[in-house]
Amino acid sequence: MYLFDNDYSEGAHPNILKAIVTANLDQTLGYGEDAYTKKAQDMIRELVASKDADVYFITGGTLTNIVVLSHILRPYEAVIATDEAHIYTHETGAIEATGHKVIALDNVNGKLDVDEVEKVILAHKDHHMVLPKVLFVSNATELGTIYSRAELIALKELAVKYDMYLYLDGARLAVALASTTNDLTYQDIGMICDVFYIGGTKNGALFGEALVVVNDDLKKNFNYSIKQKGALFAKGKFLAIQFIELYTNDLSVKLARHANAMAQKISDAFSGNGYRLYTPTQINQVFVVVNNDKLDLFNQQFQGQVWGPFTDTSSIVRYTTSWATKHEQVDNFVDLIAKNVQPVGSLEDQAPVLSLDYITRKEEFEDQGVKAVDLDEKDKIEDLRF
Ligand SMILES: Cc1ncc(COP(=O)(O)O)c(C=O)c1O
Repeated sequence: MYLFDNDYSEGAHPNILKAIVTANLDQTLGYGEDAYTKKAQDMIRELVASKDADVYFITGGTLTNIVVLSHILRPYEAVIATDEAHIYTHETGAIEATGHKVIALDNVNGKLDVDEVEKVILAHKDHHMVLPKVLFVSNATELGTIYSRAELIALKELAVKYDMYLYLDGARLAVALASTTNDLTYQDIGMICDVFYIGGTKNGALFGEALVVVNDDLKKNFNYSIKQKGALFAKGKFLAIQFIELYTNDLSVKLARHANAMAQKISDAFSGNGYRLYTPTQINQVFVVVNNDKLDLFNQQFQGQVWGPFTDTSSIVRYTTSWATKHEQVDNFVDLIAKNVQPVGSLEDQAPVLSLDYITRKEEFEDQGVKAVDLDEKDKIEDLRF
């Protein structure tokens, strides 16, 4: 069994473990008052070209979200996010437990739609309702897509217009920025966002996220919020050391590129064999519709994560690769997919991401007992592709 379940199925990159071992007996002050932490903070400030930013290292993503949002929001203020946002779906109500409403909007390929956001801001028209104060975006999103520079700037402009803050959850920022379809840089993120974090856990660190507070309005007493929420790590240097390694000799981007390339191979195999991609593949995650009988078969060797049902007989499945994913396992999975082309249901079910490959290999598919799409429909299919 090989897991494509997540990007934290493995431990940490050997360089990181080595650096931790090297520093093991080095005596320093605790709670981030050490030279490693100072060095890592400087490196992150330089990376995001924000020389006055405050940088903190926190062990995990949920904890970072709790610290940031509870620090920013007054008791009557709320955060706007998508209905797939990690803070809305996968943090056990952690944000609501701090007393703040998460206003969830329908996602568009995992992203916030600027017009819909404006509508919901305007709908909160007086003090009988909560006051939306933060726009929460994840880049990459929870559906494996990424924001373009223009999309992020449009959200920031909206935030400025309505006196709100833009917070970016970068649990998967490394793979987002390493995507072949990306046009954002770390410097852009530093310039556009008020506050954001750079994920280490899903980028080859043992654990850890680097939180960057850019907007001066949010800086005051941030360290009190961190400590009060239990997020101030006594042996803080071991968080910082991991970021020093990740951002030395481009390790972070190399690991992210590997993860993305492995996912792209799996994605191409699916789309080339009649499967519908649920969202376009842009990072190290493939969201694909798989008939349940095929899924049972795949699960015997390669395990993804079922995201939810698609129809009565098919599921949306997420396959995630990591910095450590092995080439030969991906090749074996690709072979298995090619031997199991997806039977075509209705055109609507299949069309959006049917690849040209599928059309040109019609006969091969039919040999495997798969009903093929009428080639006259080819143009219609291409129109519907991403
Ligand atoms: C977008 C996003 N934010 C936050 C988290 C939470 O991270 P953690 O599991 O470290 O709390 C995740 C984890 O999958 C995530 O995908």
